[in-house]
Amino acid sequence: MKILTIESSCDETAAAVIDGELNVLGAVVASQVKIHEIYGGVVPEIASRAHLERILPVIDETLRRAGVALRDLDAVSVVNTPGLAGSLLVGLSGAKALALAAGLPLIAVNHLQAHVYACKVAYGVDPFPCVGLIVSGGHSNLYRCLTPIDFEPLGTTIDDAAGEAFDKVAAMLGLPYPGGPSIQKAAEEGDPNAYPFPRPLLNEPDRLEFSFSGLKTAVRYKIAGVGKVDCASVVISDRTRADLAASFQAAAVDCLVGKAMDALRLTGLDTLCVGGGVAANRHFREEIEKAAKKRSVRLYIAPPKLCTDNAVMGAVAVERYRAGLFESLDLDVYPGLVRN
Ligand code: KG4
Ligand code: ZN
Repeated sequence: MKILTIESSCDETAAAVIDGELNVLGAVVASQVKIHEIYGGVVPEIASRAHLERILPVIDETLRRAGVALRDLDAVSVVNTPGLAGSLLVGLSGAKALALAAGLPLIAVNHLQAHVYACKVAYGVDPFPCVGLIVSGGHSNLYRCLTPIDFEPLGTTIDDAAGEAFDKVAAMLGLPYPGGPSIQKAAEEGDPNAYPFPRPLLNEPDRLEFSFSGLKTAVRYKIAGVGKVDCASVVISDRTRADLAASFQAAAVDCLVGKAMDALRLTGLDTLCVGGGVAANRHFREEIEKAAKKRSVRLYIAPPKLCTDNAVMGAVAVERYRAGLFESLDLDVYPGLVRN
């Protein structure tokens, strides 16, 4: 079995060819980071136009690397939920066109299920049932993952996503976009205990929710002064910047690790799968490994390259193929709604 997987839900245009044993025969990711850098975040209209330019070259290059032609494929899969509407539409239209032209079945992939499935691809072990933690620019979600394609929501953020907080705090500190890697780098020189930032909701262990907006405001007030919003005109030393980055990172990571452990306790599950861009964070990886070890939890955390958006994680399409879950050509995108 060979499936072409397509991913265009946010600002990465990606494709991969995966076989039935989850071997990656070829994979390409075209990042748009450089395009969105000057805006300090992803601009949806620019993202969808960039996908449009890249989608066909990315698919061609993926097939070339995999050494397969369209006629060698058994199906085409595409992420159709959740994500930016315009971005999702480019991938979906490309996938439909290929499916129609080559007479291939079409498979819909849920981006969040794909982030968790990256762990199965990376470790070659079946982690289900497990708790799934997805922490990215748009999501901070906990799931009870019954199977690779059957997730029950356990909790999410009540305001910002974790990655969004990293990106916004980085901007306050004058650090470049994307904020996660910049904060991680600045934090290496800093003291994580320099500023005792709040750990929202950690004192409510039965509540599986995240909140990063208060933490973000606490950093803003520390830079600009209480009640003030302008960080850009405040000059801070490299030492202070490093301490603020390290203290923010420590607080955000404590919240993510704490709630993941709460979810394991409340569900009684003993396996945790983690994915999404923020899971590439070195401090987060160290802390979640420590916490998992302490509680004898089986931890599967995708390698950094499979944490940020990619099409290899679309290998979850193999599960849908085996379950006979194919779509008609009137399949739509569901930007906010998780449908499949
Ligand atoms: O999963 P992803 O590539 O795209 C979304 O689906 O959102 O995640 C991107 C997010 C960005 O907010 C980025 O700042 C964050 O992941 N990120 C990190 C790191 N690398 C990427 N956050 C913290 N530490 C990192 N090393
Ligand atoms: Zn993602």
